[in-house]
Amino acid sequence: MIQQSSSVLQKNAPIGVFDSGVGGLTVAREIMRQIPNEKIIYFGDTARVPYGSKSKETVTRFSKQILRFLQSYQVKTIVVACNTASAYALEELEKETDIPVIGVLKPGAKTAAEVTKNGRIGVIATEATIGSQMYSKYIKELNKQVTIYGKACPLFVPLVEEGLWQDPVTDEIAKRYLTELIDIDIDTLILGCTHYPLIRSTLGRIMGDNVTLVNPAYETARELKELLISKNLLNDEVPKLGENQYQFYVSDGADKFKTFANSIIKYGILSAKTINIEQY
Ligand code: DGL
Repeated sequence: MIQQSSSVLQKNAPIGVFDSGVGGLTVAREIMRQIPNEKIIYFGDTARVPYGSKSKETVTRFSKQILRFLQSYQVKTIVVACNTASAYALEELEKETDIPVIGVLKPGAKTAAEVTKNGRIGVIATEATIGSQMYSKYIKELNKQVTIYGKACPLFVPLVEEGLWQDPVTDEIAKRYLTELIDIDIDTLILGCTHYPLIRSTLGRIMGDNVTLVNPAYETARELKELLISKNLLNDEVPKLGENQYQFYVSDGADKFKTFANSIIKYGILSAKTINIEQY
């Protein structure tokens, strides 16, 4: 285990962000928007994606390797951008390090528990995240009165990665997945997978105006900002021109990653490097 003591964390150290692949860029994008001085080391496990159909043991093993990789950059915080890894591995990761580790589930759950009026919350996510029932656990810890309805939507990830964000095929699949949530009259829907914010307009149109969509990517960046402020770790240095503020690493297919990343993040991703994650 690489020891990195929280007592020596530097304000201008980077934030480590990781996901099973490209989806976590929706979280990285929110961090860039909300705390623009921060440096980011992003890792996407493109060789081993998807996590959403894998076991807890496998996702935890992968996540621990990535934690060790990110810690080699002396990061001051780690954001588990992947919902599946947050559901399965967060508690194990927290035991491995004494720097703060934030997952995306708790911030999303907190907002959903706050905004629901009728106490009926829907969660859409991968099979693994729904099966783990971790969103339900976190929401219930905050509000015992609510009922949570989980629905796995495994086809959304490939549809988003195919670029079919605004497409009749995505509309059709979304209607099939969401009908049962509409029928049970939820008033809040958690977009519990990294990819879903990219089809937010489709999901919102189908659910209708009476349903509030909760985006854990946005809520996580907000919580991260609060955490950094509370620990006096917010970077107060404005990044210098030409500084490599955002660095991207993947376990395979760096060019494909870069193309997709540039369609999501408008800052211009100059490079993505492939590394051997099995070494960590
Ligand atoms: N990043 C994953 C999540 O948020 C979705 C893709 C995958 O299954 O790996 O759950």
